[in-house]
Amino acid sequence: MTHHALDFSQLSPREAYKVMIGTIVPRPIAWVTTVSPDGVVNAAPYSFFNCLSADPPILALGVENKPDRAFKDTTENIRQTEVFTVNIVDHANVEAMAATAAAFPPEVDELQMAGLTAVPGVTIDCPRIAEAPVSFECRRYLGLQVSSAREIVLGTITMAHVREDIIDLETYYSDHLALDAIGRMGGNGYAYSRDCFDHASPSAEEVMARRAARAAE
Ligand SMILES: Cc1cc2nc3c(=O)[nH]c(=O)nc-3n(C[C@H](O)[C@H](O)[C@H](O)COP(=O)(O)O)c2cc1C
Repeated sequence: MTHHALDFSQLSPREAYKVMIGTIVPRPIAWVTTVSPDGVVNAAPYSFFNCLSADPPILALGVENKPDRAFKDTTENIRQTEVFTVNIVDHANVEAMAATAAAFPPEVDELQMAGLTAVPGVTIDCPRIAEAPVSFECRRYLGLQVSSAREIVLGTITMAHVREDIIDLETYYSDHLALDAIGRMGGNGYAYSRDCFDHASPSAEEVMARRAARAAE
């Protein structure tokens, strides 16, 4: 089977976006809560999201600006307040999460709209979502304005709230079945994290032994 070579210098931003969101899957979803300087709570999902460093503990969000290049409420609030909370989305919250993606004006409390409960932050002045299985309180570490259309926000985690049936505080392992996180596919698609498998990474010696065994066949 041959591969199509897609030259990104020849693709429109929309085409590049579609190639990326259709193939870089599943993406974890950051359900980001922020507060405006006037105290209005905002929530929105972002699947251009991942953890990039554990020491220091850094999360990254990729936020697209609005078509007129104005910042989304999440970006504006993080710029103003320097804090945000990343809530993890489980399957039970998919409908509420999707409701917070609707383009409400900045004065609307999106948690209230989606029937969700705000719990005050402990280390930052920004609420988490009570219904979320896990939440990370974050301080803005760096904002990268990569273009007039996109901003990358890096945040340092100051505190995690993990539902008690998920994490074992002896080992710090989390039970992914209890977490039941969902991921984002292309279009309107989502993925479960329940159907997964273990596969240990081999040592270099094991890889070489397998290669030698194949060659000897
Ligand atoms: C599952 C999901 C993932 C999304 N991921 C992103 C993303 O990575 N970047 C982005 O700019 N918008 C993303 N969106 C769209 C935003 O959530 C949407 O524009 C939202 O209205 C922004 O809200 P805000 O203005 O309150 O920040 C996503 C929407 C959904 C439903």
